[in-house]
Amino acid sequence: MKINSMKDLLINELRDLYGAEKQILKALPKMIKAATNAQLRSGFEKHLKETENQVTRLEQAFEKLGVSAKKKTCEGIKGIAEECEELISADPEAEILDAGLIEAAQKVEHYEMAGYGSVRTWARQLNLREVADLLQQTLEEEKATDKKLTELAESMVNQMAAAHT
Ligand SMILES: [Fe+2]
Repeated sequence: MKINSMKDLLINELRDLYGAEKQILKALPKMIKAATNAQLRSGFEKHLKETENQVTRLEQAFEKLGVSAKKKTCEGIKGIAEECEELISADPEAEILDAGLIEAAQKVEHYEMAGYGSVRTWARQLNLREVADLLQQTLEEEKATDKKLTELAESMVNQMAAAHT
């Protein structure tokens, strides 16, 4: 698409995030299967449900903008997901893999936080309040997920991984 205005830039990035969420919907089940720690697994399961809602919110945002809900391949998330699959294929000890899965998940969250933060701010700048509110809701979920992952790593998972020498 041609990008001639800030609204075009917003739509272009929303399509990237729409692609990203759909790619995450495919990656998370693999991460759930690979995770050993029960809290990590249930955290991923919860985030899978949240991601379904995030897809719906983006569809609502496209509707409010009067454009079709088209997705782009998100090369950023594609790369992170490939690296995660590589880690799983390397078949480390379960506790070590859990620590690596948290890192991969946090890379995903940080990508999304950067994207949603910017599009939320652009939507506000363009006085698209309802679109901005939808994006803010998702941004808060991504931040909360990132925080939970840090807590899980620091309270438990990293110590268990470090026990393997
Ligand atoms: Fe997301």
